[in-house]
Amino acid sequence: MSVTQQQVLDSLRRVRSPRGVALPEANVLSDITVNDGKVFFSINVDAHDARAWESVRSEAESAVRAIPGVTNAMIALTAERKAGSAPPRPPAGGVKPVSAHRHPPQPPGGSPMSRQAEIPGIAAIIAVASGKGGVGKSTTALNLALGLRDLGLKVGLLDADIYGPSVPRLTGIREKPELTGDRKMIPIPRFGLAVMSIGFLVEEDTAMIWRGPMVMSAITQMLREVNWGTLDVLVVDMPPGTGDAQLTLAQNVPLKGAVIVSTPQDLSLIDARRGLAMFKKVNVPVLGIVENMSYFQCPHCGTKSDIFGHGGARHEAEKLGVPFLGEIPLHMAIRATSDAGNPVVDSEPDGPHAAIYRAIAGQVRDQLKGTVSAA
Ligand SMILES: Nc1ncnc2c1ncn2[C@@H]1O[C@H](COP(=O)(O)OP(=O)(O)O)[C@@H](O)[C@H]1O
Ligand SMILES: [Mg+2]
Repeated sequence: MSVTQQQVLDSLRRVRSPRGVALPEANVLSDITVNDGKVFFSINVDAHDARAWESVRSEAESAVRAIPGVTNAMIALTAERKAGSAPPRPPAGGVKPVSAHRHPPQPPGGSPMSRQAEIPGIAAIIAVASGKGGVGKSTTALNLALGLRDLGLKVGLLDADIYGPSVPRLTGIREKPELTGDRKMIPIPRFGLAVMSIGFLVEEDTAMIWRGPMVMSAITQMLREVNWGTLDVLVVDMPPGTGDAQLTLAQNVPLKGAVIVSTPQDLSLIDARRGLAMFKKVNVPVLGIVENMSYFQCPHCGTKSDIFGHGGARHEAEKLGVPFLGEIPLHMAIRATSDAGNPVVDSEPDGPHAAIYRAIAGQVRDQLKGTVSAA
């Protein structure tokens, strides 16, 4: 018996919004995907009302799971800003949003791993983080994952950037994950990586603001309700910034370490320092800093120019006693391949950029030695 969208909508009619409106009439549902008994959609609500919607989400999930023939239901709660309003990017500096003054619960002590059960089958989870957006965090995360793959490791990539999931674009993945019989999402295989993205659930250009509990429910699902299989390393593309959402994530994901991506500009370095402080606070070791867009390399003559004052991150890393993992040039090939869904490590494996990413991956692997098996 195959389940229809209409059946899903009918079942949702019994679930009421916090204002008492039947869910299908509340104007909050995304497209409903029904695939072989697996149902998948999101509830998009105003960020201010998000808390009140949490119980609605779980009621909706129960209602859908009760439909005969449904083998799994995955329903995400997302808080959306109306188009045209200011983007919810964390501020690069200056005045903090009100939410930044709320203090998220502190760990009861010790490493975050003592509070968060590790994910069976995954030897090491590492975060790729940045103090602000646009520094090339996602590009670095994906190419680092591919570099680790080239070292013979089995690698997954989880795009947890709730503010702007870009892994669907960087990998060219358009399809949505399917669900297994035991109600787990199957990561999408690409370039030999197991890939999951919050962007598979919501559109990349849908600017969103999330509240801590929603972030965690979404991330927990992406981590634990996914059939990752056996992985040596899971690379997590974190949301940029060091606000509540990031801290909650850093606290709740059993991270073995973090890689911080920075550009050479001062501001970005200040942000990188905040990133270091954040991971320190939650006892996650920083594996090192990567300087992205480190120098400009002319695609014609190969000449290097330090347009941003190159070397700042190396210097900063030395000062802070954190390993410096490498410098990635600002280069057309990196941008073009990234944005076309053909990351440079995969599309130009013999080129100079792939070599740089592989060298960074080698250092990360070395620091995880004892944790990851291969190589
Ligand atoms: N080293 C680089 N050289 C050239 N372009 C880059 C480089 N790193 C990133 N980019 C480009 O910069 C933009 C932002 O990169 P992205 O990885 O999406 O940043 P973030 O995840 O930090 O927001 C993208 O268009 C990407 O292709
Ligand atoms: Mg990104």
